[in-house]
Amino acid sequence: MGRLKELRKIVDQELLTVADTDTRKGAYVHLYGVSLSATLIAEKRGENSELAAMAAMLHDLYAYKSGSYEDHANKGAELASAILKNLGLTTDAETEAICTAIRRHDDKDRIDGALDEVLKDADVMHHTMNDLSKAVKEKEAARYSALRQEFGLG
Ligand SMILES: [Fe+2]
Ligand SMILES: [Fe+2]
Repeated sequence: MGRLKELRKIVDQELLTVADTDTRKGAYVHLYGVSLSATLIAEKRGENSELAAMAAMLHDLYAYKSGSYEDHANKGAELASAILKNLGLTTDAETEAICTAIRRHDDKDRIDGALDEVLKDADVMHHTMNDLSKAVKEKEAARYSALRQEFGLG
């Protein structure tokens, strides 16, 4: 079984602890949605799509489990590190790359490393393109517009 599939099994199990069914559904939709977006963006940019998809599966897990977005990027990186170390399928460098991307994913107004940027843009892609009838939030407008350009959507 591939590493992404193994990780998804763990994430699926972790989300079963989310009691509220709407929150749990939203968590699956968002984590799997960002994971697909991350694969697409990473492939487009020649980055590692497997690591990008794995980071995406974990990026908001802490927030969904705890019910709080307070410092969720840093706390999410710690949770991701514990899960990945326990899973034992990633090298130390891969674990660090995934956790760094998660730690930085909320800093959307800053440009970071290539994998970090894939995760940030994948997050924005899912927020903005999951339902095109919804208005794009001001803070995501610049990244949304750049993504449309990048994918030839005008
Ligand atoms: Fe987040
Ligand atoms: Fe997110």
